[in-house]
Amino acid sequence: MKSIQTIGVLTSGGDAPGMNACIRAVTRSAIYSGWKVIGIYRGYEGLISGDCREMTTESVSNIIQRGGTILKTSRSEEFMTPEGRKKAYDNIVKFGIDALIVIGGNGSLSGAQQLALEYDIPCIGLPGTIDNDLYGTDATIGYDTALNTIVSAVDKIRDTASSHDRIFFVEVMGRDAGFLAQNSAIAAGAEAAIIPEELTTDDQLTRFIGRGMRKSKNSSIVIVSESPKSGGAMHYAERMRKEYPEYDVRVTILGYLQRGGTPSAVDRILASRLGVASIQALKEGQRNIMLGIDDDEIVYVPFSRAIKMDKPINQELIDVLGILSI
Ligand code: F6P
Repeated sequence: MKSIQTIGVLTSGGDAPGMNACIRAVTRSAIYSGWKVIGIYRGYEGLISGDCREMTTESVSNIIQRGGTILKTSRSEEFMTPEGRKKAYDNIVKFGIDALIVIGGNGSLSGAQQLALEYDIPCIGLPGTIDNDLYGTDATIGYDTALNTIVSAVDKIRDTASSHDRIFFVEVMGRDAGFLAQNSAIAAGAEAAIIPEELTTDDQLTRFIGRGMRKSKNSSIVIVSESPKSGGAMHYAERMRKEYPEYDVRVTILGYLQRGGTPSAVDRILASRLGVASIQALKEGQRNIMLGIDDDEIVYVPFSRAIKMDKPINQELIDVLGILSI
């Protein structure tokens, strides 16, 4: 295998707090190992257009505390095509990139997997998404910060809910995964979470009402995962108004405020560890894997497992919320 002298790093998909800490860790760790680092801008779009610049230790100074990504990001349609990936590979050759580090979520790592199938370029994926939906890692970079953002927003909403005796349906992100919804509901003391993973079981709204809602409480918070499978908070609020018109119902969609802001210490540490480990993995000759964290140890997960397998929500979390929301 060709020895590595230069690596490329990019962020792709939705930005997530901690991506900058990860870029910093990848860059500094590679430079520490004597390698050159090329920063690729706007994700795969920048790889296709050749928007690439050399990174130094100074380029990543003073960014560990910043949300978003200094490399910018995108969801590239063109990279989904063989022609797009060919252009990307041509630039990999042009810039002398021997290995690629991709920080992103499901779609971004699928892109890396596809590129690695078609061309001889080692790719390492680092899980960067607030959704926490990648299999094989306990957490993804950005998840902890987003969770904390949701919890502090719900704490504020609860003031109005309890002052007015209202039921709030609060919609949170997560795409098709309910981790943000389930765990923010536990942490914010919400009365229920409606998550896509549970849609196959009984109707979650009926269950919430059936558990004797408002027997002992005058207000309620229901966290609803944004998934189109569940229909989102508006859908449940509409149903509530029709089926239980006696209740005063409101909706809050938290939206993009969940993706922004200063990364938590947990995310900064996770991002730093994964960034350093990605360089170590390349030195070991690893390729086409995602790095994750499992029981506080760094683990190597083949792309095919990380992307394709559904990451289950622990039943215990569902039970905890059920017991504590009586
Ligand atoms: O994957 C992160 C995420 O924020 C999801 O939770 C959400 O469904 C999606 O990105 C929104 O994507 P976009 O910013 O492209 O609208």
